[in-house]
Amino acid sequence: MGRDVIIACDFASKEETLTFLDKFTGRKPFVKIGMELYYAAGPEIVKEIKARGHQIFLDLKLHDIPNTVEKAMRVLAKMDVDMTNVHAGGTIKMMEAARRGLTREDGTSPILIAVTQLTSTSQESMEHDLLIERPIAEVVTEYAKNTKAAGLDGVVCSPLEAGLIHEACGRDFLTITPGVRFADAKADDQSRVTTPARAKEIGSDYIVVGRPITQAEDPVAAYERCVKEFVD
Ligand code: C5P
Repeated sequence: MGRDVIIACDFASKEETLTFLDKFTGRKPFVKIGMELYYAAGPEIVKEIKARGHQIFLDLKLHDIPNTVEKAMRVLAKMDVDMTNVHAGGTIKMMEAARRGLTREDGTSPILIAVTQLTSTSQESMEHDLLIERPIAEVVTEYAKNTKAAGLDGVVCSPLEAGLIHEACGRDFLTITPGVRFADAKADDQSRVTTPARAKEIGSDYIVVGRPITQAEDPVAAYERCVKEFVD
């Protein structure tokens, strides 16, 4: 499993997504499909993008009782996605069930990662709404340890947290990090951002990049710039 750039295809329809991917005639990028596109276009979009030779991170963030999550994961394993995820807040039992469901008969499995705390959750809302009264960095680290204990492969986190997570869970535990911007670009609605080059230095395993590529005048050039900074 090497470092790679994942493009967040946050489009509202299949047509828009495929028109965008048509531009990539050389290296086929790893693609993230999120809830919006999946709910709009259905499982067909996964098959179609796979058939075009892309790897797929299906970002559906499952969070339900263990039995339901296990069965849902069994369906996703059949769809042959390369990476998918759950909420670590579903508990270790739920994550273990997810891993079981995702494991194919031959023992192989897509990469399975967990969201610790959403980056939209502040210290204040975590204390007030979730009644968790510990520093958020500690909560993120403890949830990452639970994720590892459940047999998952890694977590989604800020690139700035990647070092901390690797310290707590080991170098082989994967960090998948959004919040990436080029040094000369705007941050959009992301508040803690890092460049691809810096994310590599800190030790991210995969960066998830959306608008800096999807909204670029030349998306292929923007993608190649990310690859050059982060992978090469
Ligand atoms: O356009 P941008 O590069 O900000 O897109 C980042 C992608 O990563 C989006 O799909 C966003 O939903 C996702 N994401 C994030 N922060 C998280 C988890 C996921 O930005 N903590």
